Amino acid sequence: MSQGATAWDTGGSEMGSPAADRPSAQPQRYDTAAAAETEALGERLGRALAAGDVVTLSGPLGSGKTTFTKGLARGLEVAEEVTSPTYALVSEYDGRLALYHVDLYRIATPAQYVSLAMDDILHGPWVTVVEWPEHAAPPITGAIEVTFAVAAGGGRTVRIRGTA
Ligand SMILES: Nc1ncnc2c1ncn2[C@@H]1O[C@H](COP(=O)(O)OP(=O)(O)OP(=O)(O)O)[C@@H](O)[C@H]1O
Ligand SMILES: [Mg+2]
Repeated sequence: MSQGATAWDTGGSEMGSPAADRPSAQPQRYDTAAAAETEALGERLGRALAAGDVVTLSGPLGSGKTTFTKGLARGLEVAEEVTSPTYALVSEYDGRLALYHVDLYRIATPAQYVSLAMDDILHGPWVTVVEWPEHAAPPITGAIEVTFAVAAGGGRTVRIRGTA
């Protein structure tokens, strides 16, 4: 994947502790040519995550949010394969930290959102990944924000913004 020259970009896993590898508040851009590269980027973020972290994934249908989550789960040492379930809005996985994978695409009413008890999910000692965070009301704040766009050549542009 192509990337700029910043601490998070160039660090890789050889840069020391995972904590040193957390994304900066300055958004960083990555261009991934294939799904495996998007997964690798997610895995790298997953390795750097700590209990209580929330990661929001924004971008159109098919832009790579679940693909990124599969890698992120590997970085959290989740053994089970992350899928994009047809009906479940929230899936839980065991790993070095538990992972809650939330997909808000099908949220149709405010009551449905309330029924998810997202406030509890977002504030627990685990990692929460949220696809379609735009469907959350009230909005999700304080998250590491990842946005996906489909590039002209078919690859993906991934932007990651850490918390301050
Ligand atoms: N560079 C790339 N990065 C990620 N996915 C890619 C890339 N190139 C092609 N793909 C393909 O694009 C699709 C992305 O699907 P994925 O389920 O990850 O999207 P999504 O953003 O989660 O969509 P949805 O909003 O429907 O949940 C996959 O089929 C994947 O193989
Ligand atoms: Mg998805």
